[in-house]
Amino acid sequence: MKKVLILIGSPRKMGSTAILAAEADRGLKEQDIQTETIFLNDLKIRGCQACYYCKKNDVAECSLQDDMQKIHQLMQESDGLILATPIYFSTVTAQTKAWLDRLFPYIGMDLTSKMPPGKTISFIFSQNQPDARLFESGIGSFMYAVGLSGLMVKDHMIACDLDAGVKPSVTESKDLMDHAYRIGRSLLQ
Ligand SMILES: Cc1cc2nc3c(=O)[nH]c(=O)nc-3n(C[C@H](O)[C@H](O)[C@H](O)COP(=O)(O)O)c2cc1C
Repeated sequence: MKKVLILIGSPRKMGSTAILAAEADRGLKEQDIQTETIFLNDLKIRGCQACYYCKKNDVAECSLQDDMQKIHQLMQESDGLILATPIYFSTVTAQTKAWLDRLFPYIGMDLTSKMPPGKTISFIFSQNQPDARLFESGIGSFMYAVGLSGLMVKDHMIACDLDAGVKPSVTESKDLMDHAYRIGRSLLQ
């Protein structure tokens, strides 16, 4: 059975990002793909300490003993990932950025990847601003950086005009819900 890890970078369990991630999850489960959803905010993940343990020892392992060890393990076991995050101050949330920095062990000194090959990743971004172009450069840089780890970037969506509890719920936008569903459906195809 194929496995997909869904990481959510929002602190809100019932926010727009989590709702869209659940739609992607539905698209995966309908294909009998096993999924596990984790809110990064529930974990203790320190920032990279730049100790270069992974580089000095040439290993895809981190010297820090915290909850990122569990994420590394789940990533190794997965065929693909969905990363869903709100935009905070023009880029991803701090929880999501900590996860990204801790992918450092997968990147060799010569920028070759130590990630087991064949793992795809798709992204769901949610933001308040109605214009999807506003944060495209930051979003593009983030996805490029994730790609350096060896995860193969498959697809992404930017869900705009969302502010849970203030603006209409994302569930009222058929386009956004359908798009998130398709992000899940297509991940491993
Ligand atoms: C600290 C903070 C910073 C934010 N910065 C931005 C921003 O720069 N641009 C934007 O469009 N929305 C911004 N937002 C709004 C969220 O990205 C948006 O409402 C998103 O859909 C929240 O997702 P959630 O419902 O899963 O929490 C910010 C929200 C917070 C709490």
